[in-house]
Amino acid sequence: MRSLSRRKFLGNSAKAAAGTATVLSGLSGPSLASAIRPKKAAPNDKVHIALIGCGGMGTGDLADFLRLPEVECLALCDVDQHRLDETVQTVKELRGRAPDGYRDFRKVLDRQDVHAVIVATPDHWHALPTILACQAGKDVYVEKPLATSIAEGRAMVAAARKYGRVVQVGTQQRSAPHFKDAVDFVKSGELGRIRFVRAWAYLDWKGSIGNPKDRLPPSYVDYDLWLGPAPRRPFNPMRFHHNFRWFWDYFGGLATDWGAHMIDVVRWAMDEQPAGASSVGGKFGFPDDIRETPDTLQAVLEFPGFSMVWEHMIGCGVGPWQREHGCEFHGQNGIAVVDRNGWEVVSETDMFQQPDRVFRMMPRPRQSASDDGHLAHVRDFVECLKTRERPKADVEIGHLSAIPSHLVNISWRLKRSVKWDSAAERCVGDAEAQALVGREYREPWVLPKS
Ligand SMILES: NC(=O)c1ccc[n+]([C@@H]2O[C@H](COP(=O)([O-])OP(=O)(O)OC[C@H]3O[C@@H](n4cnc5c(N)ncnc54)[C@H](O)[C@@H]3O)[C@@H](O)[C@H]2O)c1
Repeated sequence: MRSLSRRKFLGNSAKAAAGTATVLSGLSGPSLASAIRPKKAAPNDKVHIALIGCGGMGTGDLADFLRLPEVECLALCDVDQHRLDETVQTVKELRGRAPDGYRDFRKVLDRQDVHAVIVATPDHWHALPTILACQAGKDVYVEKPLATSIAEGRAMVAAARKYGRVVQVGTQQRSAPHFKDAVDFVKSGELGRIRFVRAWAYLDWKGSIGNPKDRLPPSYVDYDLWLGPAPRRPFNPMRFHHNFRWFWDYFGGLATDWGAHMIDVVRWAMDEQPAGASSVGGKFGFPDDIRETPDTLQAVLEFPGFSMVWEHMIGCGVGPWQREHGCEFHGQNGIAVVDRNGWEVVSETDMFQQPDRVFRMMPRPRQSASDDGHLAHVRDFVECLKTRERPKADVEIGHLSAIPSHLVNISWRLKRSVKWDSAAERCVGDAEAQALVGREYREPWVLPKS
């Protein structure tokens, strides 16, 4: 069983939010003491939450929720009894009171005293709990990427609007000050006309996942409930906790995993929708492991007035600008580059003026990130529960930001370019591509129509 000490739990938020410890090294977070002993909140101000999915990111999210004095965690839910028990115990140690534990999230949604739920399950389990929570009158903090398909994302937006719920997506860059500074700079126009944007993720801290045989699921896991709406298939440890990322039934590989973060920043700055995508790549790094999603991918996306490239590699960490992940905005006057560690601006020059090259704009040296934004993102959600305003990463923002990543995957899976009608949210003239805009649900699970 995974050991999750109190110290590890509290450290989890930053690490899980980064997806890697290295990315956030050097960033300061709230002190352990402030998380354990928050100031008291008046009883009427209490926000009662529940966590669905007590894995790496769920416990990380919960750690930051519990740093807020007004938050009480009443319930936890996981289909893995070990993870559930361990997280119940940790919250009891932190807050002196054990939350109730559940295997079936519908029982959590039945509770009248729960105001909001955190949905931190694998992606094939994002849409249903979110929509059912909205129907049950609960607000939702749902992890990124919003869903495994575009159609599910749209249904989640519809449910949030119909039932008047606050739904925040776990793209914490939206609450990180240096990302806002970089995006404001890009929007200021100083770069001149932006013609090219690139976003990327190169992860050398992930590699082959091997080729283990299917086996019986652990006795302490409700595997049928873990599969939920995904197709029935034998248990395999590499398709399970954390590694579900590399299988189409549950996730979209690195294109949606990190695309949800970096392409969201692109959309924040550029505020446009794609008209199509064309991807190449394959399992070039680890051809013999059981991963289904490509470990190497380059995609070109068509946007009004600019081109965009998404690229990713698993098993290599040196991406463009020698950064393992990031976004670059290439304007007529210069280039802005931003990642989780900071941002900078490089000037274009007028080459014909050599040897006295003329810089077209004032470059800006790299400015380090002061904060990863995760706690502020959680706080923003909790504030919006009270004000009923839209949060920084409102569900529709998360939905629109996920679309480019999904199109990249649809193009790669079909081995052809896809055209996208962003107003109708449909693939144009391609029935197979359109079929991948939605997904089949295994009975008895049904995606509710809002
Ligand atoms: N915001 C970020 O920076 C960030 C970072 C990492 C992961 N994530 C996201 O968080 C989500 C979870 O990822 P993870 O790495 O924590 O995965 P994980 O496998 O560690 O945790 C998922 C947990 O959900 C549980 N679960 C599955 N089905 C369930 C169900 N029906 N009801 C209740 N519990 C269920 C699993 O048993 C597991 O404990 C993913 O969507 C991922 O993209 C976000």
